Amino acid sequence: MTDHYAVIGNPIAHSKSPQIHAMFAQQTGQDISYEAILAPLDGFAEVVGQLRKTGYKGCNITVPFKFAACHIPTQLTSRAQAAYTVNTIKFDGTSIIGDNTDGAGLIADIEVNLRFLLKGRRVLLLGAGGAAYGIVLPLLEAGATLSVVNRTLAKAQQLGAAFSAKGHLDIYSYPELNGLSFDCIINATSSGLSGEMPPLPPRIFTPGALAYDMTYGQETPFMKFAREQRAAGVADGLGMLVEQAAESFYLWRGVRPGTLPVITAMRSK
Ligand code: ATR
Repeated sequence: MTDHYAVIGNPIAHSKSPQIHAMFAQQTGQDISYEAILAPLDGFAEVVGQLRKTGYKGCNITVPFKFAACHIPTQLTSRAQAAYTVNTIKFDGTSIIGDNTDGAGLIADIEVNLRFLLKGRRVLLLGAGGAAYGIVLPLLEAGATLSVVNRTLAKAQQLGAAFSAKGHLDIYSYPELNGLSFDCIINATSSGLSGEMPPLPPRIFTPGALAYDMTYGQETPFMKFAREQRAAGVADGLGMLVEQAAESFYLWRGVRPGTLPVITAMRSK
């Protein structure tokens, strides 16, 4: 019998998750379906409730519902608690488990696929929204020395306070970055989606630095800037997308799919 899964967001038409999970299912011989569902901005909880009622086994949650998704599960994994956001739900009998696989996906892509070890590196995180929250603790746990910059400084300060018990974060406004440099800069803002560039100063990359944009499917102004500034590595978020999906698939199915063939296939599309 086919088990049903979905990704819920708004907008959602652009989502590559159905293709990725279809490849995982084929590769591992798991009998699942996976579709993209558009939820009204004021109707997210109802959509999840409906899926559960109709026998779905789980779902992924994407923008803008990752914070709201924390209120639905009966239990949150430690990763979801630490991220203050949920991107994966598993319906498990009477339980609803909420997890967050974004951070694990990012670290796997940076450290395993891109072979850039984070321990002891000076990492600058751009943004203080849901995407940023999901990756702070995994970056700290990977041993990075973490700084955060955000257009609205108060939101970066709020993020710093939320994680103060887990580790120290240096919080900056963009003008304060003048003269500083970092080994890795991760763009967790939504600026790329609107073709905008976070106002980074020149010479911000150290030699050998990695520029990582969590956006995928396009060369963002941040990636273009990083190439102009001679960052040694420039990556988009496709690898993270596939890695976080693999982690969700593992939570649901207990089987870990191979990610590299899927990343390669998605890139060639
Ligand atoms: P998400 O859940 O995807 O993180 P979000 O909560 O709307 O989305 O957060 C978007 C982030 O991108 C915010 O940190 C936002 O900065 P503000 O808090 O100042 O709004 C950041 N952002 C969006 N466009 C930006 C731009 N052009 N330059 C810099 N930061 C930008």
